[in-house]
Amino acid sequence: MDRIRIVGGQSLEGTIPISGAKNAALPLMIASLLTQETLTLENTPSVADVGMLLQILSHHGVDYSVDGRRPGDAPQAARTLHLSARRIVDITAPYDLVAKMRASFWVVAPLLARMGEARVSLPGGCAIGTRPVDLLIMVLEKLGAKIDIEAGYVHARTKSGLKGAEIHFPKVTVGGTHTALMAASLAQGHTLITNAACEPEVADLAACLIKMGAKIKGAGRPTIEIEGVASLQGAHHAVVPDRIETGTYAIAVAMTGGDVLLERASPELLQNALDALAQAGADISHSNEGIRVRRNGSGIEPVDIETAPFPGFPTDLQAQFMALMTKAKGRSRITETIFENRFMHVQELARLGARIKLDGDVAHVEGVAELQGAPVMATDLRASVSLVIAALAARGETIVNRVYHLDRGFEHLEKKLGRCGAIVERISGAG
Ligand code: EPZ
Repeated sequence: MDRIRIVGGQSLEGTIPISGAKNAALPLMIASLLTQETLTLENTPSVADVGMLLQILSHHGVDYSVDGRRPGDAPQAARTLHLSARRIVDITAPYDLVAKMRASFWVVAPLLARMGEARVSLPGGCAIGTRPVDLLIMVLEKLGAKIDIEAGYVHARTKSGLKGAEIHFPKVTVGGTHTALMAASLAQGHTLITNAACEPEVADLAACLIKMGAKIKGAGRPTIEIEGVASLQGAHHAVVPDRIETGTYAIAVAMTGGDVLLERASPELLQNALDALAQAGADISHSNEGIRVRRNGSGIEPVDIETAPFPGFPTDLQAQFMALMTKAKGRSRITETIFENRFMHVQELARLGARIKLDGDVAHVEGVAELQGAPVMATDLRASVSLVIAALAARGETIVNRVYHLDRGFEHLEKKLGRCGAIVERISGAG
């Protein structure tokens, strides 16, 4: 297992190219199951989750090439994907595949909409909480599917096709909204979705579905209307820039000090987080090239944040912002409202010298003058990268174990940081 070694204390200077969003690429790739024609996705990040989803989709019959190369002679993932689900060969998504990546549960919607049947393993809990799928099942039932839960599998069927319906989400859910968009696009008649997720990744999926021939209005807002169509066609789509990768590097620069251009990043995708960073003392500007983040000399101001669905502060940046606050000049409060158990990084940050007290869904952070390097590990992607951020500003050496979490969602992390002056290297092998 690879590890990452970081020697802290360098400020970051230079340019970091921002990749396509993992969390947009995954539902976009799954949408390829909705059509017999080829879906071409540009700007797909080269991350392990994309490679894993390619394997899962090929199990269902999707033929794919990566940058023009066929499986076997290609690296596991890359920039332009061609996905062709001309024939679906298997409507079952087995436990061993779904357990590896929760988002693969979302195949239930296109398989059901196109084939009239899907059998998909329940994903189970994960490091950030129980993460139920009851609202995704509610969507399928509203659209007329018969659902049976048998031996850990959701078996969804429809005899005469899905029918448009009114779907109200009692809680904002990104995966639930993706599911509703994909299933309702091929349902007969009109669907009205209220309290939909407004995340940019939802709007990106809808934009691609519209190119495929879907009739969707309002995606990116809480009320979405869909007029079902009989079939969808192939399309060409470029994945939206990764707002979480953008925010992560912006926070890293605020932490270490320096001056970095985040190339291709769009401020409107993460305005709330940029505002919090500006309050913390970072100087943020933007141009056609991207977002520029600077912090010189002055210390880090404490800022209270509370995670919320878009356009609020993203839960996927909570751990990284907490890392920043560990060196603030005073106390801050970090409230997690989306996931019940997303504080697994707290004990690891403490190993680097951070002072954090947990009280239910609130973390009270008392800034310290100095962090100190140590061996650490984390249990999920965003928690792992929060340790990288802390390590960049810690005195001495930090070894971040379980790098496979980082590889799931950050493209060339150590290269991107290394080019900006960080002392960071990957150590291959045991650990
Ligand atoms: C997506 O997960 C993202 N994953 C997550 O990113 C992100 O943290 C999350 O949205 C929130 O923004 C991908 O896009 C692949 P939800 P998702 O459904 O869709 C509850 C990362 O690090 N809920 O919006 O699974 C749920 O428990 C990952 O990249 C139900 O109660 O999240 C949570 O409390 C982690 N019932 C809340 O809704 C349901 O049926 C929001 O979850 C579904 C969700």
